[in-house]
Order: sequence, then C-alpha cells, then structure tokens
Amino acid sequence: MANLAGYRRPSPGTQPGYLHPPYVSSIKRSPSKPLVHLSQTLSEITGPSFGTTSVDVKAFDLTRQHESEPLGERIIVSGRVLDEDGRPVPHTLIEIWQANAAGRYLHKLDQHNAPLDPNFTGCGHTLTDSNGNYRFVTIRPGAYPWRNHYNAWRPAHIHFSLFGPAFATRLVTQMYFPGDPLLTLDPIFNCTADESARNRLISQFDLETTQPAQALGYRFDVILSGRLATPWEK
Ligand SMILES: [Fe+2]
Repeated sequence: MANLAGYRRPSPGTQPGYLHPPYVSSIKRSPSKPLVHLSQTLSEITGPSFGTTSVDVKAFDLTRQHESEPLGERIIVSGRVLDEDGRPVPHTLIEIWQANAAGRYLHKLDQHNAPLDPNFTGCGHTLTDSNGNYRFVTIRPGAYPWRNHYNAWRPAHIHFSLFGPAFATRLVTQMYFPGDPLLTLDPIFNCTADESARNRLISQFDLETTQPAQALGYRFDVILSGRLATPWEK
C-alpha cells in the first residue's frame, strides 16, 4: 500500500491522559502497559462522508422536539469546525446530548433526584455548512452530582460527537460554560494537563449570537486534529 499522509498527532499534554487518579474510573480503565503505535490506515483517513443532506429543525433545535417548550434558559450554541491547518470542515456530522435544566438525563441509569422534563429529550444533531459553521438551539443544562468523590458535581456541559472528514478525526468531547465555579474542581475537565488546551473546552459568551428577548449565545469552535486539537473526553 502507498504511503498515506495521515493526520498529525497532538502535542504532549494537550489531550487527557488515560490515567488520571482523581477521576476514579480512569484507574481501572487505563492501560497498564505501554501503547503500541499503529499507523493510520486508508479506511481511517478517507471517510466517512455525510454529504449535504438537510437536517430537520427538530434535530438542531432541542426546544422544538415536543408539544411545548422545555423549562430552562434558552441558549444558542454555534461555532466553526476546523482542521489541523485552520481550514473549515464542511458538511460534517455533529451530535450533541445533555442533561435538562435540572441536571437530569433522560436515561434509565440516571436516577438523580431531580425532575425529568416531558418537553426535553436532550439529544440532537446537525451538519456543518460549506464554511464549517454549525448552530444548535437548546437550554442550558444543569450541574449534576456524581459519585467520584465527596460532594462531587459535574460542571454544566454539553456532550459533543464530531466525525470530521475521517474516522481518524472523530472527536468526542464536552463543552463547558465560562465562569462555572465547578470547573476547577472537576477531575474530567482537569484530565488535560495543558491549561490552554483545557480551556479550549470552555465556550465563550457571544453577544452577536445572542437573540434579543429570546436566547443567550455561546460560541464553541472545535479543532479536530493536530497541535491545537480540542481535547477528547476521556
Ligand atoms: Fe454528562
């Protein structure tokens, strides 16, 4: 097989390590032996492609998936998806999922003592346009408790899955909100050693995206590979 260019690897410290003892689950999950480096294969760097099919408004507006609107603070999340050279990634699939405004997921394993919202499912998807832009409408998720350590609460976050132009650029991560006091205490956010890389996970309040009397706007740009890549969720 001919030599394939592949995608550049991230700089050391800019992605979460597999082992981060304050994040207790990582202790059992992390490999105990050195990893074996595998070259990227043709199928990893050439697909999949999602084309230019249109996306139903219910998919990217999570406040319009039911008869009434969900409770909570309406927000608009938008941004650009870029490759390792800063070029836009067009027509790529972005999926999101999140807790409701009370910090509860619609999932059988989430038994947190907070109300479900019959008007909020918490899942959506969209495609970037030809310039790599995307946009979601949703409600701001609430913080929720977890059992990692005493009085542990996850900062408010939205889960993102991005495919990019190839399996090698697949990214699963979490978007956070600026000024959240739980960020400094959160072992998942702090898994990434490099502070500037970590801070790429925090969205920015954006008055340009904010709609008068309707919704606050947040920008969250994502870089799919290379030196400035957005950190993965580990
Ligand atoms: Fe979560």
